[in-house]
Amino acid sequence: MSKVIKGGTVCTADRTWKADVLIEGEVIKQIGEDLKGDEYIDAEGAYVIPGGIDPHTHLEMPFMGTTAAETFESGTWAAAAGGTTMLVDFCLPGEDGSIKNAINEWHRKSAPQICADIGYHMAITGWNETIFAEMEDAVKMGVNSFKHFMAYKGALMVEDDEMFASFQRCKELGALPMVHAENGDVVDLLQKEMLAKGITGPEAHAYSRPPEVEGEAANRAIMIADAVGTPLYIVHVSCEQAHEAIRRARQKGMRIYGEPLIQFLTLDESEYFKGDWMHSARRVMSPPFRGKEHQASLWAGLQSGSLQVVATDHAAFTSEQKLMGKDNFCLIPNGSNGLEERLAVLWTEGVETGRLTPNEFVAATSTNVAKILNIYPKKGAIVEGADADIVVWDPKISKTISAANHHSVLDYNVFEGFNVTAQARYTLSRGDVIWAWGQNSQPQPGRGRFVPRPPFASATKALSKWKELNSPRQIARDPMNIPAGI
Ligand code: URP
Ligand code: ZN
Ligand code: ZN
Ligand code: ZN
Repeated sequence: MSKVIKGGTVCTADRTWKADVLIEGEVIKQIGEDLKGDEYIDAEGAYVIPGGIDPHTHLEMPFMGTTAAETFESGTWAAAAGGTTMLVDFCLPGEDGSIKNAINEWHRKSAPQICADIGYHMAITGWNETIFAEMEDAVKMGVNSFKHFMAYKGALMVEDDEMFASFQRCKELGALPMVHAENGDVVDLLQKEMLAKGITGPEAHAYSRPPEVEGEAANRAIMIADAVGTPLYIVHVSCEQAHEAIRRARQKGMRIYGEPLIQFLTLDESEYFKGDWMHSARRVMSPPFRGKEHQASLWAGLQSGSLQVVATDHAAFTSEQKLMGKDNFCLIPNGSNGLEERLAVLWTEGVETGRLTPNEFVAATSTNVAKILNIYPKKGAIVEGADADIVVWDPKISKTISAANHHSVLDYNVFEGFNVTAQARYTLSRGDVIWAWGQNSQPQPGRGRFVPRPPFASATKALSKWKELNSPRQIARDPMNIPAGI
């Protein structure tokens, strides 16, 4: 059975043009005019874009004494409803500390539930010979990126020597190191100061994690990556201080990638100072929401290319779970939602306002993610042979975001009341329609697949003459083969 997406405007990271898209089985067969097929999907008046890829989620993650409430099933359905066809979830080692077992555990949980495709990042939360050895197993299992928590002291945090050793191992294996950049030692001290002063509410969460602690950690991680000679991906960039470190490093020729979140672009720190405990606690995440000047910096980064992707860090904890911290803000489970809302909010606040072009929107929500995570052009592209992960994106459907009609299991939504001006008319995952506006039927759990991501090839020979002439240290390096220009 072939399908033709008919009459739309194909919009990719680099082009916009009127064309039909013919799908055969799971892949794109042809892009052109007046294509014929067995079935037709109406895209008249809409954009035809590559399915969204959310590079950062935490579904059913055990964290801070509880487990994130969003399941693989509800999370991937919410994703589909919002035009996201793939997400990359963070795997955490269990009690035994084994990476391999953690990946198998994530497969066990996710496989029967997922309605759309999934990949994993692996968290490195300590350092020993087993972890060193198992990182290779992880790469062979299709996990080519490793996250290091510089925060959450006493729990997930790694020390600098551990991070350095792990970055070296990543480089050896052709894997991409990632960091959660916040100085965990300073945060820990500031948290204690707040409690000592009797400031126990969610506003103290913001006070104890100022932008400087994020900027310091981003700088430190970048310098460690530079010493090792590896690219680096900085997750959930929230502030100018971290963004500034990324800009500076990129200008020097380093492959440093920065990921702002849709929450950081559109919600600010005033959310913590409304005098409503539950409202603020629901928005407690790390790093915290920032002031407007930081939002302006993040938008500028997306415009200029110094920041490449927009993620959600979707970590959903119910109101009841948030109450765990009612007497002590340090115990409020950290995390907020966005998986379903990311595309619509970025379109409304980015494209509708003229901050981003539709092509930049596609790059930030899909294509750049696929390139950086090494699954392009299987994902993130509308080209012949690519997976038919496609969204018919309707810029004329408006709605008001609300917990009353979202697909998340959460009892609230941090974007409650936001008016968005665009929606997915259809979402296709490998050729299957998994979402149709107005029908609201759930895709088959278990139809989604794990997408293995191969290690990066060496790019030593691709080093530019400029670097040879200007930076002798750089020549000995072996940066990965990530395409230039992102
Ligand atoms: O607050 C957050 N970001 N929760 C999820 C875990 C993490 O640090 O990414
Ligand atoms: Zn330390
Ligand atoms: Zn994090
Ligand atoms: Zn996260």
